[in-house]
Amino acid sequence: MGGDSTAGSVTERVSDALRQRSERVQRALGSPLRTTRMAVVIGRLLGGAFVICFFTGLYSHLLQDPLPWLPLPARPVHLYAWNQGGHVVVGTMLIPLLLAKLWTVFPKLFTWPPVHGILHLLERISVAVLVATALMQPVTGLLDALQWYPWGFSFRRTHFALAWVLLGAMAVHIAVHLPTITRVWRADAGEADAERSDDADTVSGQEARDER
Ligand code: HEM
Repeated sequence: MGGDSTAGSVTERVSDALRQRSERVQRALGSPLRTTRMAVVIGRLLGGAFVICFFTGLYSHLLQDPLPWLPLPARPVHLYAWNQGGHVVVGTMLIPLLLAKLWTVFPKLFTWPPVHGILHLLERISVAVLVATALMQPVTGLLDALQWYPWGFSFRRTHFALAWVLLGAMAVHIAVHLPTITRVWRADAGEADAERSDDADTVSGQEARDER
């Protein structure tokens, strides 16, 4: 019994120390540019770009591996070239957008406790899958465009499978953040600034408040 309560107080003390430290890190990383509105503004560009890449990629895949019940038109003659050009250009533009989005939200990594409950754990796993696939798709796609394959797996099959994983992870991400997204979607920069001066909406300020 006594041992249990000592162990309890040790873990509480360690947890408290880590919480204070994570709050300090989040305050140090705070920036007026790291707002929820910024996460949504970049997020919707990213979402749109990933959807364009998904459908242009799917069209290209279906032309190379046609389904017997889904005949696709081969005309106009330049359609495939435009489709592939769009896929590569938008896919390459995704890389700076993705880095900007991750820069905006990365202070959220320093939240203590990192997980509180089974649903939250599942959400954290979906964010990890989202970030990993969102980084892997444009980077391996760019290397494919350069015809450089420093890996041992089939690029085409992996790229196709991961596109579905990414689409699913993005749907979960949007569903989780939907209340925030709808709240911030139409706010103009002035409203966002007013909220920010309240410390109400910076990505790291949000976390610090959650911890209080
Ligand atoms: C591949 C695309 C995307 C990636 C890799 C991505 C990544 C992330 C990450 C890592 C976080 C922090 C999550 C956390 O720790 O809780 C986050 C937060 C967020 N994302 Fe995304 N995201 C993507 C697309 C989107 C889209 C399409 C939207 C909606 C337009 C969106 C809206 C948000 C919002 C509202 C937050 C919360 C920001 C806050 O709490 O201040 N994201 N995103």
